[in-house]
Amino acid sequence: MRLPEKGLTRGPRVNILVDGEPASAYVGESVAAALMADGAMRTRTTAGGEPRGLFCGMGVCFDCLVEVDGVPNTRACVTWVREGMRIDRQDGPGTAPS
Ligand code: FES
Repeated sequence: MRLPEKGLTRGPRVNILVDGEPASAYVGESVAAALMADGAMRTRTTAGGEPRGLFCGMGVCFDCLVEVDGVPNTRACVTWVREGMRIDRQDGPGTAPS
């Protein structure tokens, strides 16, 4: 929750794509925060189809892997949004871009 009345300010608004759909986020937010603000907690599924999302929130567990601008296995919790970023939820293990 953003609380500007409590002195918390946010950066400028940026336009991003989440699974191909336009969304907005704010400079200074992590990809994980942007995904949660977009209304979904799932970031990926395992090879067996089990949903995963944010767990540690600090770059340790690798549960939050997503594809960012075509790069799979990007940790959503330690990656910051930027204008024009494309974020795709990842199904199964990612493959290296060709
Ligand atoms: S939530 Fe653990 S690495 Fe991102």
